[in-house]
Amino acid sequence: MPENTAPITTECLSPSPAGLARAVELLQAGALVSFPTETVYGLGADARQGKAVAAIYAAKGRPSFNPLIAHVASAEAAQRYVRWNHWAETLAQAFWPGPLTLVLPLKPGHGISELVTAGLQTLALRVPAHPSAQKLLQALDGPVAAPSANPSGKISPTCAAHVMAGLSGRIAAVLEDGSCAVGLESTIIGLTTETPMLLRPGGLAVEEIEAVLGQPLANRDIHDPLTAPGQLLSHYAPQERVRLNATEPRAGECYLGFGCYSGARASDLSLSDSGDLVEAAANLFGQLHLLDQQGKPIAVAPIPQAGLGLAINDRLQRAAAPRGDNAQG
Ligand code: TXA
Ligand code: MG
Repeated sequence: MPENTAPITTECLSPSPAGLARAVELLQAGALVSFPTETVYGLGADARQGKAVAAIYAAKGRPSFNPLIAHVASAEAAQRYVRWNHWAETLAQAFWPGPLTLVLPLKPGHGISELVTAGLQTLALRVPAHPSAQKLLQALDGPVAAPSANPSGKISPTCAAHVMAGLSGRIAAVLEDGSCAVGLESTIIGLTTETPMLLRPGGLAVEEIEAVLGQPLANRDIHDPLTAPGQLLSHYAPQERVRLNATEPRAGECYLGFGCYSGARASDLSLSDSGDLVEAAANLFGQLHLLDQQGKPIAVAPIPQAGLGLAINDRLQRAAAPRGDNAQG
């Protein structure tokens, strides 16, 4: 559970020059600012300030120190902190800015807080494409550590209202700028071994990455804490039980449909009536938030395991996993 700290008034900032300047000022002062990216809203702190990064864990009520992604404005900025290689160059050229995170070896003198890397010798870096995230990072000219801006174990936020519902009173500000176009967290690729490795499926399809690399990605060893830190099972948990691969709802359940399995009742929702996985990804967390408010178990239609379906199924499996004390995120 979140720690007991005195509530503060969370400022709602617009993406105007004044709003952005205020967000930068707060980050520089070591405060927490939630900001939009094209994947999900992040909960940002200056990655060089240990106390600010520690406050992320306190605000989210994260039980353990999992490593965080550092957000920067460009591939050039990323190279201040890590040892670059040809894979990084290829992927950054093709997909940055965008929903892709690269894990690379830290450079000496990097200045990143150990709370961001959780003591690893590697750093996860992302260049987000959202215009407000870009403006914020350019103005700060520094790395912003940011997990998704939700209380630990809860559904990731895809609009500022979700952020406020979960973290109002715990963070200094939210920079409000619309809904997240991709709607799923970034795809994470490890570049510390000979073959690029898929560490987390996400908003950029594996097929697209493999096409650019000209070879298949290696899969992470789920038992290796170095390739899979913090990839715990129970995550994105709605209050009620989630049942997957349901071709129709049972009595008492609400239904999250997809394609030909779309809900016929007013209380049901559909990720995409036409079976479009990109649309489904963008709708996933928002619709889980809505169904969560109905207080009923949720049945979810089968989602094909291809393209963004890989990441959608990954998040759904975590939402449906038995709850333990291992929730994170
Ligand atoms: O789209 C996203 O990726 C969002 C937005 C805000 O950028 N961020 C996000 O952060 O999803 P978070 O903290 O929920 O997930 C970060 C993931 C964790 O699974 C963590 O284990 C992995 O990144 N990670 C971070 N640093 C790593 C490292 N050095 N090696 C391997 N995995 C790492
Ligand atoms: Mg998260």
